[in-house]
Order: sequence, then structure tokens, then C-alpha cells
Amino acid sequence: MGVYRSRFGRGLDVDVLRYLSSLGEDSEILFWDLVGSEAHVVMLVEEGLIPSHDGSRILGVLEELKSMHREGRLKVEGEYEDVHEFVESYLVERLGADVGGRVHSGRSRNDQVALDMRLRVRELLLEIWERVLGLVETLLRRAEEERGSIMLIYTHLQQAQVGLLPHYLIAVADHLLRDLERIKGCYGRVNRCPLGASASGGSILPLNRGRVAELLGFEGVVENSLDAVGSRDWALETVSTCSILMTHLSRVAEDLVVWASQEFGYVELPDELASPSSIMPHKKNPAAVELVRARAGRVIGNLIHILVSLKSVPLGYSIDLQETKPPLFEALRYTRDSLQVMEKVFSKIVFRRERMLETALSSYAPAVDLAEALVKYSGLSLREAHRVVGEIVRRLVEEGASIREVTVDYVGEVAEKVLGRRISLDRQVLESCLDPRKVVGMRATEGSPNPREVEEMLGKRLKLVEDERRVLEDERRRVSRALTLLEERVREIIGGRASP
Ligand code: ARG
Repeated sequence: MGVYRSRFGRGLDVDVLRYLSSLGEDSEILFWDLVGSEAHVVMLVEEGLIPSHDGSRILGVLEELKSMHREGRLKVEGEYEDVHEFVESYLVERLGADVGGRVHSGRSRNDQVALDMRLRVRELLLEIWERVLGLVETLLRRAEEERGSIMLIYTHLQQAQVGLLPHYLIAVADHLLRDLERIKGCYGRVNRCPLGASASGGSILPLNRGRVAELLGFEGVVENSLDAVGSRDWALETVSTCSILMTHLSRVAEDLVVWASQEFGYVELPDELASPSSIMPHKKNPAAVELVRARAGRVIGNLIHILVSLKSVPLGYSIDLQETKPPLFEALRYTRDSLQVMEKVFSKIVFRRERMLETALSSYAPAVDLAEALVKYSGLSLREAHRVVGEIVRRLVEEGASIREVTVDYVGEVAEKVLGRRISLDRQVLESCLDPRKVVGMRATEGSPNPREVEEMLGKRLKLVEDERRVLEDERRRVSRALTLLEERVREIIGGRASP
């Protein structure tokens, strides 16, 4: 019979146990359950709440479990409701209820699971943080390499304006840099310690909550004990942030899928990132990129799953909260892995510059620049210019002619017909407008694909990423320093040197 079942005469019905147990999915938090228990026991010893020789023996077994887990020898199975029961049962079996049974002093599974989840989410958020920076760096490196590559900009997936490939890549990076801000925001709220809240109303044992938080590298405690146990908004906003990030990756994935089509031919995936067809020997499918698009759907589903699981749960702990674990961790893992795939894709994808340029050269997209040139140099209103150039494009399309064939005289002739007056336009201005390679240099607005603007944007972001790397490294160091100190403390207590 289970260690918790003191008031029951019988063990839990096996079918019911199977139905309610989270043991299988708890493998995700097992390691952190052990570390969290160690911090709790260290604090109990330091505060004199359990004898140090008992603490020492409990820590010894927890260390054993940790190394078994590290070596893949820890089989988590059996008739347990969850990993917390599994670990405590193991301790009680090994050390007896009089010693092993002390591990849970002042603790409930409610604050314990909240702790384990926060520790695991913190770890995954750090990995995602790193991968976002990795992808942004790759995008910026490719932008540097593709400095002069002309590429059309699309609206409604119709040719819209002449642009630059690096301008597109920086736009993607900017989406991700905002995702990074959101990730850091979540991280700050996740990185607080709920332990010591007990079932939700605190404990009559004088636990040192701040000490446990410190040992585990948290930025303080979640103060209110009911809030500490019952809140999952930090999980919600984490999955929400993942959903936004995945939506960004999905949109970019969609662009790549379209661009990899023969009709576009803007990009080619290297063989190691493409998938074959079982029957059509010529196929080169962007399966991994398509899956990034699809996984965004799963992560968004996970967000909805958690929202709906939470919406009617009374404040405090109900076991509904157990259901938030799988979608939470799955969302984080999918996000982490999708970032990795997209980084590989962007570091190796071949951009077919000549093809992008060819498309731009045959496009009517310079029409908007021509219309603006009429505003800027010929004194027309935008509406007048729009009419003149609209008429020019109508005729060109009819004749199947290129916009680059348009001459100053032709513009004058059409303007006279449309507006009833002659206008003048400098030949060189006209030529630059109509040449995709030159027109981007005429763009005069901040943030446009003017190569000077692109260069400036690139510089700022390269610097930003460098700073962000340092912030991440500092945070990593801070956490691992705390965990190393915890390990040292554990070893001291095991070695019989218990005093703080
Ligand atoms: N396994 C539970 C979870 O994942 C923790 C235990 C909750 N407490 C309880 N009394 N059933 O949330």
C-alpha cells in the first residue's frame, strides 16, 4: 500500500491508479524532484528541523538516485500516483519511515510539484533563450553574406515592392528578438520558489523558504502560499510565448516552402535537410520545414489545453493542475527543437540570387517607385501619379512589355493623355526607378531596404545579440553557481559536516 494511504484500509484500485497516475509523464521532472528534495533536506538540517545524521542518510540516497538517473539506471515504474510518491517510497524502503519519512517534513506534493515544474521550465527556457539567439545570429550572418541580394517583397503573395533579401532576414530576426523579450519576461516570473507553501496554507514548522530559494538559484520565493501552490499563469504565459514564437517560425516556414517550389525557385534546401518521395524520384520535399509549420499548431493546441484545464479550477490546488504538465513540457520541447531545425535550415539553405533578381527584373513592382518619383520630382499628387502609372502598367501588360522599356517621353505622353498636361521627369531618375538594383538605393525612409539602412539595422542587431549573449551567460552562471553550492552543501552534510 502506498506511503500516503494512512487513513485507508485498502490500496487504490489498479484501474483508477492507472487513470490518475502521472508517473509516466513525471520522468520530465524526476531529476528536478531529486534536486529540489535535496535543497529541502539541506534547509531542514540547517534549521534543526531534522537531525543532521538523518538528513545525511536521506541525502546519501538522493545522491544515489541522482547518479542512477544520470546513468539511465533508474527505472521509474510501479504502483505510484506520481514521481513524488515513488521517490519518497524509495527513501522509506531504504531508510525506514523513521528516517526516510523525514524528507517530507513541512512539504506537500502541491508545493513540490510546483517547484519541480518551475525548475524544469527554467531549464527549458534557458535552452530556448540560447536557441533563439543562435537562430538570430544565423539570420544576421546570412544577411551579411546576402548584402546586395535583390528580392521582391510580397503583399497578398503578389509582387509588391522591390526589396533586399537581407532586409527580409532582419525582419525575421526582429520577430525573434521580441520573442526573446517575452521569454525573458516569463523567465523572471518562473524563476521564483514555491516550496514552503506546503499544501497551500504554509507550515507550523519554521521552514526557511528564502534559503531553499537561494540553494536552488531562484530569484526569491513566491510569497503567498496559496498563490505559490495554485498559480499556473507562469506556465500559461510560457506556452503563450512559445505559441507566438512558433507562429513566427510557422510563417517563415511557409515562405520557405513556397520559395522552394519550382515556380518560385528562390531557395534550395541542401540534401541533408530535405526529404524524398517513396515513388517520385525527382522530389525534394521540405518536410522538416513543413513540420515546423504543423508543430506550431500543436503548441497552440497545448496553450488552449492549459487554458481550458485551468479556467474553472478553484484557487489553490486541484488535481486538474496535474494535466497542465504534459502540454507545457511538450510545447517547450517542440519550440526548442523547431528553433534548432530552423537554425540548421537557415545556416545551410541556398539562396538563388540570380533567380530572385530575374524575377525582380521582370516584375512591375518598380511601378510604385515610379509613381513616387512623379510626386517627388514632377510635382504630381500621389493620386495623379497613381493614375498615370496605372495607365502605363495597363498598356505594358497588354503588350506583354517590361516596365524597364518605359522612357521619359512615354511617361510624358501618358501623363498628357491622363491628366491633360505635360510633365517632366529626369531620364536618370526614371532609369534608377525602373532598375531593381538601383531603386532600393533611392528609398529614403528609416528601416527601408535601402542598403545603407540595412547596413545600419544589421550593425545594431549584431551588437544587440552580443549583449544578449552576455546576459544569458550571466544567468546561466548564476544558476549553476547556486546548484554547485547546493551540491557542496549536500556533500558536507553527507560527510558529517552539517553546520552551515
Ligand atoms: N501528481 C500531482 C501533480 O502533478 C502532484 C500531487 C498533487 N497532490 C495531491 N494531493 N494529489 O500535480
